[in-house]
Amino acid sequence: MNILIFGATSAIAAAVAARYAAAENRFYLIARNDEKLTALRERLTESGAGEVETAQADLIRFEEHPALIEAAFTRLQSVDLVLIAHGTLPDQKRCEQDAEAALEALSVNGLSPISLLTELAPRMREQAHGTLAVITSVAGDRGRPSNYVYGSAKAMVSAYLQGLRGKLHGAGVNVIDVRPGLVDSPMTAHLEKGPLFATPDRVAGGIVRAVARNRHTVYVPGWWRIVMAIVRWLPDTIFKRLDF
Ligand SMILES: NC(=O)c1ccc[n+]([C@@H]2O[C@H](COP(=O)([O-])OP(=O)(O)OC[C@H]3O[C@@H](n4cnc5c(N)ncnc54)[C@H](OP(=O)(O)O)[C@@H]3O)[C@@H](O)[C@H]2O)c1
Repeated sequence: MNILIFGATSAIAAAVAARYAAAENRFYLIARNDEKLTALRERLTESGAGEVETAQADLIRFEEHPALIEAAFTRLQSVDLVLIAHGTLPDQKRCEQDAEAALEALSVNGLSPISLLTELAPRMREQAHGTLAVITSVAGDRGRPSNYVYGSAKAMVSAYLQGLRGKLHGAGVNVIDVRPGLVDSPMTAHLEKGPLFATPDRVAGGIVRAVARNRHTVYVPGWWRIVMAIVRWLPDTIFKRLDF
């Protein structure tokens, strides 16, 4: 498989890459932090990955997306799996008081993946095979007081993926919306951990299975689907009183 990953050094993305590290798989990894990227490349190579190419990029620089994608497709020729994984967990309280902070959170978590997908979609349609997988979040299912800026960025991407899935269906390209719940990763390092937290490796397992089975919207771990169905179902008159 030829695998292209944006935000490759994220804990979840790195765990996905580790699961695919085998001689028959080639990687093109894009991430912001060069040191982490080099370390990841070494780990994958040691684990037996066929070829690991890397590119450093700050994915908030939308104007660089076309050239980044051009370079990746030129190297890999054919891309079997694209994973978009980068993101940040913004300070919700700060975003409520500072429009610039809110817009930055929306840009990195919402506009950046959409900019990449806009460039990727015609290439995937043209090659007529492969999977586009994007990590969104259960936070996009319903805006909650504690994280509705992050949630609205993820919801934007999820809605985009729903439409894109239909657009690319006829071309044989599958689009997966990966919605993890709480994950014990650097993004949540400041949060107190509890039983609701999954490991990045568990989420990675869910992503690899979803790719193999051509799934569409996956909640990882799977029980979040039931939790979020209840959260979505609650009437606004009740939901607005829940401060969570
Ligand atoms: N952790 C959770 O509880 C949770 C829950 C639901 C969904 N998610 C989603 O899962 C995905 C992966 O997150 P994670 O849990 O694996 O956390 P993570 O390890 O903190 O990964 C986030 C990654 O995004 C990268 N990133 C942030 N801004 C970037 C930018 N402007 N350009 C390029 N890369 C950028 C970070 O790069 P640096 O290393 O350079 O900072 C980091 O590698 C994210 O989309 C996140 O929203 C996470």
